Order: sequence, then C-alpha cells, then structure tokens
Amino acid sequence: MRKKIVAGNWKMNKTFDEAQALVSEVVNMVQDEVNNDTEVVICPSFPFLSSVSKAINGNAKIQVGAQNCHQNESGAYTGEVSAGMLKSVGVSYVILGHSERRQYFQEDNQLLEAKVKAVLKQGLKPIFCIGESLEEREQDLTFKVLESQLKEGLFHVSNEEFAQVVIAYEPIWAIGTGKTATSQQAQEVHAFIREQIARNYDAQAAADTTILYGGSANPGNAKELFSQPDIDGGLIGGASLKSRDFVDIIKSF
Ligand code: PGA
Repeated sequence: MRKKIVAGNWKMNKTFDEAQALVSEVVNMVQDEVNNDTEVVICPSFPFLSSVSKAINGNAKIQVGAQNCHQNESGAYTGEVSAGMLKSVGVSYVILGHSERRQYFQEDNQLLEAKVKAVLKQGLKPIFCIGESLEEREQDLTFKVLESQLKEGLFHVSNEEFAQVVIAYEPIWAIGTGKTATSQQAQEVHAFIREQIARNYDAQAAADTTILYGGSANPGNAKELFSQPDIDGGLIGGASLKSRDFVDIIKSF
C-alpha cells in the first residue's frame, strides 16, 4: 500500500535547545491539528536524533529519520555513523543521495548502492533522492539522469527490499532557491519514475512506492503539488524549520 509521507530535512540547522523546542511544537501541533493519515518524518542532525526520538515518545504518526549514514557496519571510520547506530537510537528512515551529499561530499551512485544495502540490512527505510541540475534539464537530459541514478544507485535491491524504499524527486535547481517545479513538471517526472519501477520490478511495486517531491515546497504550493496523482508527499527543507509552515504542509493533503 502506498503511504503519504511528509518528511522534514533540517539539514545542518538548530542547536540542541532549538531542536527540542521545534520537535515539541511539531508533536503538539500534529496531535491537535492533523487528522489525515500522513506519516510525518523528522530528520534532524545526528546529535539530536536520540532526543528528538524521545520527544516523539512513540507517537504513531511521527517517525525519526537521519540525513545520511556510512555504508559499513562498524570499524575505523573516524567521524562516521552506521545504520546500526541509527537504529539503536530510534531512527526508522535514512535520507540517502541528497544532492548536497552528491555535490559536496562526492557521493556517487556506486557509493549510494552500498549505503542503500547497509540501511536495508538494518531494517531501516531509505529515502532515496534523485534529481537533475538546471543544466541537465535545459539540455533535455532529465529522464536520462534520473534513470541512471535509479538504475545504478537503487534498482539492485530485491523486490522484497524495494518495498521498504521511498523515493524523493528533488530537482537541484529547486532546492533552497524558492523556485519550485510546477505541479505539471513534478507530476511528469513522478510518472516517469513510477514507469521505471514498473519496468525494473513490476506494476504492483510501482503502484505501491511512495514518491516524494522536494525543492522549495511550502504551505502555499503543497496542496497543488500533493493533488497530483503520482506525488505522495514531500521532502521539506527550509519550511520544515518552522513548525507552523511544516504542519500546514502536512495538512495540505
Ligand atoms: P528546500 O530543501 O525545501 O529548502 O528547497 C529541500 C531538500 O533539500 O530536501
């Protein structure tokens, strides 16, 4: 069954106290105001995962996600965090392949393939990000780029494992720029992604996969985006840092 998800990617923002304040606001507002069946995922920085998870206190509507993890299980990898560690502090989702990781930390499809495996091995759910640059879009390479990101980074997993995967389409030119893809542009790409899933797995897998849109989503445009048949929610950056905006986006279904 396809789920609706709104995930907040806090990126490298907030101090401990600010993170605590934000998560308790979100928890209270979701409790008081949200009566749809959307799953909410909060993705703070590593140091706050444990306390954010405690603040959520088993609220069934809200899950915790990490923004990255290492591909190995343990060992001499100074500064890194494994999927098993994330699981042990209450994490259930892990964002992988965000364009900022691809761009600033040289994460390529081959590395992401290993990270996807590591996350699934721990029983966690990857939120696998794909997206084209403005240049690629202008050169009509969008579908080609997305196809190779999916094929090389993700489509090696089994049917059973694939059922745990969430995909996020995030056009790089729309991230943090205030420039959102139109709902038609996003829908066109989401339909393409679903087609690729059908081709590599089967029609049922395609119908069941949650595909999120990300890139300058906000309370003003979420309704229109979420009304598209192949858009199942959002991966929200900037607007997830304000509880009011984030919860209004959750209520946009
Ligand atoms: P944005 O970021 O909503 O600030 O554009 C989205 C993301 O990078 O996940």
